[in-house]
Amino acid sequence: MSNITVKKVKPFLKWVGGKGQLLDQFDRLLPEKYNSYFEPFIGGGAVFFALNPKKAHINDINKTLIQTYAHIKNNVEALIISLKKLEESFLSRNNDERKEFYYSIRNKYNELAHNDFERSLYFLFLNKTAFNGVYRENSKGGFNVPIGSYKNPKIVDEDNLRLASEFLKNTKVTNGSFVDAVKNAKSGDFVYFDPPYHPLSETSKFTSYSKDSFSKEDQIKLRDLFVELDKKGVYVMLSNSSAPFIQEIYAGYKQIPVFAYRMINSKSDKRGKISEVVIVNYQPRLNLESVFGKDLSTSSQYQYQ
Ligand SMILES: C[S@@+](CC[C@H](N)C(=O)[O-])C[C@H]1O[C@@H](n2cnc3c(N)ncnc32)[C@H](O)[C@@H]1O
Repeated sequence: MSNITVKKVKPFLKWVGGKGQLLDQFDRLLPEKYNSYFEPFIGGGAVFFALNPKKAHINDINKTLIQTYAHIKNNVEALIISLKKLEESFLSRNNDERKEFYYSIRNKYNELAHNDFERSLYFLFLNKTAFNGVYRENSKGGFNVPIGSYKNPKIVDEDNLRLASEFLKNTKVTNGSFVDAVKNAKSGDFVYFDPPYHPLSETSKFTSYSKDSFSKEDQIKLRDLFVELDKKGVYVMLSNSSAPFIQEIYAGYKQIPVFAYRMINSKSDKRGKISEVVIVNYQPRLNLESVFGKDLSTSSQYQYQ
C-alpha cells in the first residue's frame, strides 16, 4: 500500500456565505462530468478548491479579493515572507497593543491603491483577525469591520498558500461582472453561481460585500443568464436563499433544499440552521427523483419560506 498522502488545498480566506459546510450536500448535486469550470462569484472559493477542476475561470467584483488570488498565483513566496512578519508582530503584543496594531493596519489598508501588493497582504491579515472574518465596506469603499476576539489566530498557513498557488496555475482569474465571466462557457462546461443571497426578510439582509450591493434587478439579470447558458447546453448550478421570489423566478428548474448554519448576525439567537436552495438545469449525479419521489420543480414539499 502506498503511504503517499495527497495534500488537499483549503480556501485561504474566511468568507461570509462560504460553502465549506455544504460540500457534502453538494456532492450529489454536481453534473456527472464536465469540461471547463466557471465560478463568477468566487468569494473564498470553497467549491472551486474542493472540485479541483483541470481548467477554470474564477471571478469576483471585489477588486482586492481578486488581486489577492492573483498575488497568490504569481507571487506567493513574497506574500508568505511579509505575512509571517505581520503575524509575528501581532502575536507578540498584548491585547491592547493588538487592538492598536489591527486598527493601524486597517487604516493603512484603506489608504492604499487597489492594485498594491501591500493591500493584498493587509487584506489577508485583516481576514484572519477581523470580527468573524467578515468583509464589509462603508459607502466610500472603506473596510470598516472591527477586530475579532481570537486568542491566537493562525494568520499564515504557508503550506496551504503554496498549494493554492500551484492550484491556481491553470485558472484564469478576473475582476469584472458575472456576465463577462461566463462569455466563453460552451456546451459541456459547468458554471456554478453563488451570488449574494436575496434576503429572506428585510431584517436578515446581508448583501453588501462591497459598496455595490446586489439588487432584485441583478437577481433577474442573473436568472436570464442562467436561462441563456441552459439553452447553450452548459451545466448550470446556482445557490440562493429559499425566498419565495427566488423560487418564483426559477420556476421550471429543479430546486433542491440544502441546510446551513449561518452566523452573519452578531446576536447569537439570530444564528441557526436555515434552508437554502440549489437550482440546477441538469440531472445531478444522484437521481433526485428516486430519492424525493417527485418532480422537484413543482413539488410543494420543497417550497421553503
Ligand atoms: C455568497 S459569496 C460567494 C461565497 C463563495 N462561494 C465561498 O464559498 O466563499 C458572493 C460573492 O459575490 C461577489 N459579488 C457581489 N456582487 C457581484 C457582482 N455583481 N459580480 C460578481 N461578483 C459579485 C461578492 O464579492 C462575494 O464574494
